[in-house]
Amino acid sequence: MSKIKIGLIGLGVVGTEVYNTLKNFPDVEITGIAVKDTSKKRNIENFDYSILTDKPQDIIDNKENNVIVELMGGVHPALELLTSAIEKGKHVVTANKELLAKHGEELFALSEKNNTVILYEAAIAGGIPIIMPIKTILASNKITKIEAILNGTTNYILTNMDVNKSSYDVVLKQAQNLGYAEANPTNDVEGLDSAYKLTTLATIAFNHRVKFQNVYHEGITKIKSEDIKYANELGYKIKLVAYATNDSGKIDIRVHPMFVSKKETLAHIDYVTNAVTLEGFPIGKITLSGPGAGGLATASSVVGDILSIEREYGTTDYILPMMRCNHTHDGNSEIIPISETENKYYLRLHTIDRIGGIADITKTFASKRINIETILMKEIQSDNTSDIVIVTEKCKEKLISEIEHELLQSGCIKELSSKIRIS
Ligand SMILES: NC(=O)c1ccc[n+]([C@@H]2O[C@H](COP(=O)([O-])OP(=O)(O)OC[C@H]3O[C@@H](n4cnc5c(N)ncnc54)[C@H](OP(=O)(O)O)[C@@H]3O)[C@@H](O)[C@H]2O)c1
Repeated sequence: MSKIKIGLIGLGVVGTEVYNTLKNFPDVEITGIAVKDTSKKRNIENFDYSILTDKPQDIIDNKENNVIVELMGGVHPALELLTSAIEKGKHVVTANKELLAKHGEELFALSEKNNTVILYEAAIAGGIPIIMPIKTILASNKITKIEAILNGTTNYILTNMDVNKSSYDVVLKQAQNLGYAEANPTNDVEGLDSAYKLTTLATIAFNHRVKFQNVYHEGITKIKSEDIKYANELGYKIKLVAYATNDSGKIDIRVHPMFVSKKETLAHIDYVTNAVTLEGFPIGKITLSGPGAGGLATASSVVGDILSIEREYGTTDYILPMMRCNHTHDGNSEIIPISETENKYYLRLHTIDRIGGIADITKTFASKRINIETILMKEIQSDNTSDIVIVTEKCKEKLISEIEHELLQSGCIKELSSKIRIS
């Protein structure tokens, strides 16, 4: 007899590979699978279609199931289904980053009340193990910083723009044709997907509840080929970075494009590969990298979570204590608003070429007490305009907004074409 029985909700990209992988583990039996369309052809050898239902609540209500594996995605009805499963005392494994970012707090509280566990390794970095390491072998550490590439689509686009010197629009089309980007890529390219993952990752790493609505996010749609070229000249790569620091309980958390020094590991994480760099004490700095998505890689994490439950199931009345939510802090962590964050900046100013133009620009920076680290004047175009590239020393974000306003008002620049923070 199988040791645990699971009900699967979702048999798509991830669900299919979870199903296939579980065939190798006779101690886990899938009793039923909920899908949207039971008549759809499934790409699984000798598949028994009688196991399918389009009523996920039936899977939850089945008394045989001890574990519910949710791989449908989205907030509704996943939230209602998992709430019902936990209330019935079932353990949960999920890959649903959006659900956890938006409703993790209530789900974890409910789970603890009902003495069940929710495992979600796949929801952060697909196949890269990060939650289990943080909660177990890194448990002695005070983690103070996260810098991560958590979205394969955007990393693929940025890498291709760099390697092939192509524009964002051209590369996005290629990525869509190859299946690396969805027809509606908003969630990925606007940084939402990374922000969902970072919300949960920072909550676990800092042991401070972070609310998704407090995570600033900005995508890659405004990155131009010129920015990538100038980044290279200055010794950087542009990456969509999920960034968070925790300095004495004040949390700076955000997702946006960043100049990453070529000396850093993250600068060399290319195409669809993901990576998470953690800084903490006593470990120092550690980077885990690997496949952040894809059916097989994600199934590796989902099945790992299922097996963690299976190995302990029936051996104790309180399974996997280290993997449980142990938050002592509520959702009131002080979050530093983006305007108060401090960064170095890459600024690309579009200017009209004139005598004294650069002097006026540098005077404006001096008036705000912003030090310029590097200034590069680019070739003058036939319309007598040129780009001036400035790298600042560290300053508050709000000063950069003020300077943009002053430079425009005084006619020193035609526009601020790009502003990218430097890691
Ligand atoms: N794909 C990845 O690489 C990856 C990586 C990490 C995490 N994740 C997460 O894993 C989860 C699943 O992703 P996926 O790529 O496998 O999605 P998917 O390919 O779109 O599959 C979704 C599955 O859920 C089923 N479904 C949708 N709505 C349903 C409903 N109301 N009732 C019953 N079944 C329903 C679908 O049924 P039909 O088959 O009948 O349409 C399908 O089998 C998501 O939370 C995603 O964010 C995915």
